[in-house]
Amino acid sequence: MGKLKVGIVGAGSISNMHLQSYARNKDVDITAVCDLNENRAQDKAQQFGAKYIFTDYQQMLAKAELDAISICTWNNSHAPISIAALDAGKHVLVEKPLCKTLAEALLVQEAVERSGKLLQVGFVRRYASNTAILKQFIDHGELGSIYFAKATCLRRLGNPGGWFSDKERSGGGPLIDLGVHIIDLCWYLMGRPKVVSISGNTYHQLGNRSHIQHLSFYKAADYDARNNNVEDSANALIRFEGGASLLVDVSFTLHAKEDELTVKIYGDKGGAEIEPKLAIVGEKYNTIVNLQPQVDNLSFDFNAGFQSEIDHFVDSCLGRKETLSPVQDGVEMMKMLCGIYESASSGREVRFD
Ligand SMILES: NC(=O)c1ccc[n+]([C@@H]2O[C@H](COP(=O)([O-])OP(=O)(O)OC[C@H]3O[C@@H](n4cnc5c(N)ncnc54)[C@H](O)[C@@H]3O)[C@@H](O)[C@H]2O)c1
Repeated sequence: MGKLKVGIVGAGSISNMHLQSYARNKDVDITAVCDLNENRAQDKAQQFGAKYIFTDYQQMLAKAELDAISICTWNNSHAPISIAALDAGKHVLVEKPLCKTLAEALLVQEAVERSGKLLQVGFVRRYASNTAILKQFIDHGELGSIYFAKATCLRRLGNPGGWFSDKERSGGGPLIDLGVHIIDLCWYLMGRPKVVSISGNTYHQLGNRSHIQHLSFYKAADYDARNNNVEDSANALIRFEGGASLLVDVSFTLHAKEDELTVKIYGDKGGAEIEPKLAIVGEKYNTIVNLQPQVDNLSFDFNAGFQSEIDHFVDSCLGRKETLSPVQDGVEMMKMLCGIYESASSGREVRFD
């Protein structure tokens, strides 16, 4: 069998993780790179030995002989590029979030069904080794039935600006950017229960805190402190069929003492923390025990996580595996994210009966 010919759309920050992981996979030929910014596409193509460069993804789909593409563009183009690629007969790995709205997500799902091609949503944390280890414990019943999860990702100063803070291109702020990862991680480990209701809040209280001095933070390439129309922070309570619930809070800016990333799940036989460090909690002979797995990566390892995600995508395209993050899960995630925004703007609980 020949190599899988892959094209990358969007040659910004995260494309590096895709490109370096494809480059390490012996079954892949990085064939084309496309970016609205030609110099960026050119640089990446040169660095990773891609034969073709494009500034228009439609041209790339029409001209380059490709089997699959990775979409690493701003969130507003995820749906149109996914649909065009699927209809052109390509497999798709699309960065999170799947898109900006539930309506768009359903159109992408239709394109997957009509084309018979694979679409993997870039829920990279599902592919990380700490998640895989915990999943094994859960699948063997060690935690019992999981009825509560709690996920927090707080930045006190961390609105990256650029397209991230432009709602038209991003779809929202920390909820759609950071919340998507931690909500998905909990929901996946809880066994992907059906959502029944959502109560959410979003706040625009602090802006991007661009007046703050003496503390640096990551800024997008086109950072401009004057442009910011996304929420500073969000929190939500999501209820699932069977009574399980998920409590989540996220921020780009907040008067917090320090940044925080914690993801915890609780079942009727045991509990677990996956961030900041994998730990499993249970009972033995009437005694509470904290199990500390002895593994290389107790928390999310960026490089290893992406390598695992890309290798899994390649294997799935070649018919050796099934993706862990199919389009349906991307659709359910958009239901949750958009449900939180809807509840926040209406001031009411959103129900999915
Ligand atoms: N999985 C993760 O942990 C993770 C981390 C960071 C970003 N992301 C996701 O990756 C995506 C890109 O983020 P980034 O930080 O790399 O942004 P970025 O701004 O650094 O790069 C995006 C690139 O896409 C290009 N682009 C935008 N629209 C395009 C189009 N229609 N056709 C061709 N090129 C286009 C831009 O010119 C830019 O070079 C986002 O969806 C983001 O949510 C995921």
